[in-house]
Amino acid sequence: MSQSTENGFTRVQLNTADAGAVINKNIYGQFAEHLGRLFYDGLWVGHDSDIPNTRGWRTDVLEALQKLAVPVLRWPGGCFSDEYRWRDGIGAAEDRPVRVNTLWGGVEESNQVGTHEYFDLVELLGAEAYVNCNMGTGSPREMAEWLEYMTSHSKSDLAELRRSNGRDQPFRLHHFGIGNETWGAGGFMRPEYYCDRYKHWSTMARVPWDVPTKFVASGGHGADGEAVTEWTDYLTKNIQPNFLCKLDAISFHYYSHPKKKDNSLTLEDLGKATAFPEDEWISTLQAALKMEEFLAANRAVLEENDPEGHVGLYVDEWGTWYDSEEGSQPGFLYQQNSLRDALVAAVTFNIFHRYADRVQMANIAQLVNVLQAMILTEGDRMLLTPTYHAFRMYVPFQGATHVPLFVVGSTDYVCEDRAIPAISASAARTETGELFVSLVNTHPHLEQAIEVAGPDSPLTSARGELLTAEQMDAHNTFDQPANVVPVSYEADATDAGLLLTVPAKSVLVVKVD
Ligand code: AHR
Repeated sequence: MSQSTENGFTRVQLNTADAGAVINKNIYGQFAEHLGRLFYDGLWVGHDSDIPNTRGWRTDVLEALQKLAVPVLRWPGGCFSDEYRWRDGIGAAEDRPVRVNTLWGGVEESNQVGTHEYFDLVELLGAEAYVNCNMGTGSPREMAEWLEYMTSHSKSDLAELRRSNGRDQPFRLHHFGIGNETWGAGGFMRPEYYCDRYKHWSTMARVPWDVPTKFVASGGHGADGEAVTEWTDYLTKNIQPNFLCKLDAISFHYYSHPKKKDNSLTLEDLGKATAFPEDEWISTLQAALKMEEFLAANRAVLEENDPEGHVGLYVDEWGTWYDSEEGSQPGFLYQQNSLRDALVAAVTFNIFHRYADRVQMANIAQLVNVLQAMILTEGDRMLLTPTYHAFRMYVPFQGATHVPLFVVGSTDYVCEDRAIPAISASAARTETGELFVSLVNTHPHLEQAIEVAGPDSPLTSARGELLTAEQMDAHNTFDQPANVVPVSYEADATDAGLLLTVPAKSVLVVKVD
């Protein structure tokens, strides 16, 4: 919107009287696949490691993740789930078979992390469990048996097997995905074919009657035109959920690349994670902002086909995807993470908040050492990425109620033939009544003076944190892990109101009173 305000400043006008939807905490979810150095090195070092660990999990990484209040963790893939045999990952560690992780680098998969270790991790994080089964090379029987193993409180042989492996009580399974990217690497299926398969598998997917597991169908992905809603539309028109054939959510995947690839499947020439030109700063943010049109289109289809709102949308893979770092194994998807990634995360959170009525989960790809990671590790060292800091700053938005707002008088940031709004804003009220506002300045050169105004009583102060840096590609390294870290921020109202100065290329999250 480009109309100007009386005082010439951009104004963020909060509509606190008109409560929006509750922002499901799971929008801040994470994704952990058996890929590259995510588990082995990044998280799991084993009980006997010299690296301090908690039952095999790196203590430094664990403690950092606990500060993010990770609400849900999707596992074991991704594409990996389509070759995962759950029985390989149970029982004595030394007896577990070594397999080949065929897609992600063709490296050995030791199976040292399996079902029990995954649930130990989610319990240590206080997160919900989201397990994706193997529709690629598995069978409905394997899926049904895994479900029984995880969730049964009976004396069945599978429940007893779980007990003999050290777990008496069933694991709490909150979400269960059937298929992954079935439009692509999951089998290049048509929606019609997958829909029939989903109905079959979902009907065979049984959990005890008192366990409220949510069942998730593999849906569509970021695409042009009607293709973006094709899967959501077909599945919701052709599945009538009942207590046998369950459907609680449909997934949606979208990655942002600096250089657009017309949805072609390639891992090359996507753009670099650092040392990029300004036109890739704007193209990456512009790509991230497309999430809004994808969600709007899918929400419209869901409102038409499922007006009572039974089916949620889980954006269970999203984030930036760049060229792998030079010298790293290309199949490991290891990339640096800069201030640009923090802005991508923040503008995406602000979009998710606006669609909180349907978007019930989102899982950034991925947790450690893979794609847009929270944490990078090297031997016994680790660093927190700018994306980690954005997630931490936004913790107060988990479970808060979205407050609609208008941005008045905002200009565009223009670079060559591209233009995006210079300001992305969001607000929410927590359960305890605190009001939080986030402001993202996408302009890499110009600071913005923004007036934040409520509907009636004047706002008097803002206290919070600011994330910014001198360079667009500023990032943390193992030798300089504090190049990009949040600093505290405060501002008090004057006669002109509550005016916040938001530096160029920054993310600001404040509590306003
Ligand atoms: O996150 C990496 C991969 O991206 C996942 O395995 C797959 O689902 C997607 O294509």
